[in-house]
Amino acid sequence: MSLAELESTIAAMVVKGRGILAADESAPTIAKRFAAIGVESTVENRRIWRGLLASTEGLGDYISGLILFEESLEQKSDEQSTIPETAWAQKIVPGIKVDKGKIPLALSPGDLITQGLDGLAERLRLYKAQGARFAKWREVYAIDQQAPSQHGIAANAEMLARYAAVCQAEGLVPIVEPEVLMDGSHDIERHGEVTEAVQQAVFQALARHHVVLELMILKPNMVLPGKDCRRAEPDEVASATLKVLQRCVPAAVPSINFLSGGQEPAEATANLNALNQQAPNAPWQLTISYGRALQQPALQAWQGRAENKAAAQQALLKRARLNHLAMRGEYQADMESD
Ligand code: 13P
Repeated sequence: MSLAELESTIAAMVVKGRGILAADESAPTIAKRFAAIGVESTVENRRIWRGLLASTEGLGDYISGLILFEESLEQKSDEQSTIPETAWAQKIVPGIKVDKGKIPLALSPGDLITQGLDGLAERLRLYKAQGARFAKWREVYAIDQQAPSQHGIAANAEMLARYAAVCQAEGLVPIVEPEVLMDGSHDIERHGEVTEAVQQAVFQALARHHVVLELMILKPNMVLPGKDCRRAEPDEVASATLKVLQRCVPAAVPSINFLSGGQEPAEATANLNALNQQAPNAPWQLTISYGRALQQPALQAWQGRAENKAAAQQALLKRARLNHLAMRGEYQADMESD
């Protein structure tokens, strides 16, 4: 393990007032996002879209990391540069999603598990040669009457820890993402209990696997009522989320970068703002690794048309800037209409 290499990547990624843009949708997921605006998911359209995101001027003021999908590492954003080079030009560190998606956990109804450990070290070496300096792996937990089970939680934690150890051994900073979904009608208390059990198991597994906490980033869900239950105010979301984080996440972890998980863009920003207002002296940075909550308005503005490129980049920059303010607890809802 090269400590110096990992330390320099962490230093470039963990910067006050900046967060991560997730643009690493798998083929079926990006096809769904494009279909919503009537755009076909071709290699070329994906290149144009992700190149547009990475080349947004000024994005580096608010964003320090960009998560990409495999094919984007080699794609060019223009005649001169690849997408990772375009990101670097704005001091944005390029990273790569390395898991191969979720499947049902065998013999464990309701539990899911993520694949992709076989050959991971070899793949990481290739991605690193293509410019990636960090990686992301997502485990998914769906809530129903029984699930996730204790056994499911343990199996998922083991996967995350094994992935993180391989990343650090290969000199890439691991983003550890245990996502407890907000789908369902469960209340906020149940979401909090499951999130706490999941994070406890994850940090126990990380310790067993000798993962260096100072050299990783946690990407968790916020604690929310289920989508079919009700909508909670930012202060309630922030206090329920902080309660879990304070119980589970060691202070050695430098940064907690939330996923947006289906929250509306302004809702995700307001919730982050409340988190930073309630915990201005938290031991970890509280910031973003949003996919949908950063990209959605930009996709709407783009509609797959070259003439809308500037408008799409403006929409992305606006969301990035508002989240930057939320990282400082300085966001206000009326800024949405500026
Ligand atoms: P969302 O913010 O859209 O949930 O995506 C984040 C992500 O990278 C999920 O793995």
